[in-house]
This record gives sequence, structure tokens and C-alpha cells, in this order.
Amino acid sequence: MTASAQGFDNEKKEMDYFLDIYGRLPRAGPGSHECTRRAYKLMPDLPETPRILDLGCGPGVQAVDLLKISGGQVLALDCLPLMIERTKANAEIANVSNRLEVLKQDMRKMEFSQASFDVIWSEGALYNLGFKNGLRRIKPFVRPGGYVAISEVVWLKPEPPAPLVEYWQQYDEIDKVENKLAVIDSLGYQQVGHFALPESAWTEGYYDPMEALLAQKTEEWTGIPEAQDVIREARHEIEIFRKYSNYFGYEFFVMRRPAI
Ligand SMILES: C[S@@+](CC[C@H](N)C(=O)[O-])C[C@H]1O[C@@H](n2cnc3c(N)ncnc32)[C@H](O)[C@@H]1O
Repeated sequence: MTASAQGFDNEKKEMDYFLDIYGRLPRAGPGSHECTRRAYKLMPDLPETPRILDLGCGPGVQAVDLLKISGGQVLALDCLPLMIERTKANAEIANVSNRLEVLKQDMRKMEFSQASFDVIWSEGALYNLGFKNGLRRIKPFVRPGGYVAISEVVWLKPEPPAPLVEYWQQYDEIDKVENKLAVIDSLGYQQVGHFALPESAWTEGYYDPMEALLAQKTEEWTGIPEAQDVIREARHEIEIFRKYSNYFGYEFFVMRRPAI
């Protein structure tokens, strides 16, 4: 095996271990049923059975919530087959799968007809396109007068400590809420509302079960360096949150494409 082929093989393995942690959690990011419901309630004048796109659906928690809350149709898009399968399974369990469609696709390549959706939803996933680029890309797919609801990482306090700034170098669009709102304005959306996710939205469905899984896997994966790397990074992510959660968090932004 060449060095580069071996590198690829290792990379693949690390991804498998990564998914063995991140792919098995109840949620694939911070969020809660209450926050999903609260953001949904910010959108008046929706049709009785709205058509909703859930971008980066993960295991489908929001897709199922939206199917229940809206009574409409949800198209759940994710690039990972595991997430698509989990979304389908979760919708079956909740007895709402007859209104669910799924699409395994890279969101960077998505194309829909103009004005295809009443709502585009994305919890903790639009960052894969970038906040500004993502909002610009999806705008034509929402019908005029329709809504976009996004959760996105933000600075909650000025002057974050150096280790936190260094950690968030992985996402250069992390910014203050007011600057995010300015981006929303600049793209020609109307602001509808925004709110911060509470700390419990990070811990209950995400970091608490992640910690339990990490404890179990640490022993199971003894002596496997690439697996231990995944564990170390996940622990670091949790530690950063524990130490600095007063400086950063997720903000839910709800906006509207103007009616004309
Ligand atoms: C942080 S998770 C959030 C998932 C879900 N919304 C939730 O809160 O549980 C981000 C999701 O985006 C998906 N994703 C990442 N890059 C993507 C891409 N380029 N195209 C489609 N989905 C992508 C991941 O597979 C993952 O399920």
C-alpha cells in the first residue's frame, strides 16, 4: 500500500470512529424540542400543510418535530446515508413517515425549482455552506413570503479568551448576533425573530449522551490511535463548552423572504 493510500485508509477509519460517536447520539448537534417549537411559532401565515426543507437533517429529530407541529410535508436532506436511515426510522416510530421525503445529497450541490418551499429549516448545519453563502444559496428556493429558520454559532460576550478564539478558528463566520442580523438584512431577508438556545439544549440530547458513549468507547477502543484521536477531540469539544459556554452559543434566527 502506498503512503497516500494508507493515509486514505486511516482517514476512512477515523471517519468510522467519528460516526460511531457523533452518528449514534440522539441529536447530531445542540437543540431541543422546545426550541424547534418556539422557532416554528415565530412564523405566522403559513399554509395549513406547509412544504418544509430540513437541510442537514442528521438523525431526523427536527424533521419529526416539524412533521408533528406543522401537519405538512418535510423533505429531509443529508449527505450521510446513516443520517437518512435514522431519519426514516425516527419518522416511522413517530408515525409520520407518510409525510416525509428524504434526499441523500451534498447540500453544496442541491438544486430545487424556484419557490419550492414554504419554509427552509436548518439546525446547526447551514455552516457547511457558510452562513452568508448558505442564506444566499437557499433564498430562491423559498417562496416569496416564506421563511428560513437557522441555528448558528455566535459570540454571546465580547473579548472571548484566547483558547476559545483558537478553538473557533475552525469556523471563521462565528460572530456577534448583531453582525449576523446585519448579514440577514444585507441579503434582503426580513428579520422575524431570534433567540439563544439554553445550555440544556447542548447537554441533554448531545453532550450528556456523548460523554456516556465516550466513557464506554475509551475502553473498547484501547490501543487504536485513530479512535483515541476521535475520543480526545470530542472530550476537548465538551471541555471547551463547559469552560466557556457563557462566551459562545447557538442562536436561532428566523427570517422571511419578502412577499414581493
Ligand atoms: C451538526 S449536524 C446537525 C444535524 C441535525 N440538524 C441536528 O441538529 O441533529 C450537521 C448535519 O449536516 C450534515 N452535513 C454536513 N455536511 C453536509 C453537506 N455538505 N451536505 C449535506 N449534509 C451535510 C451532517 O451529516 C450532519 O447530519
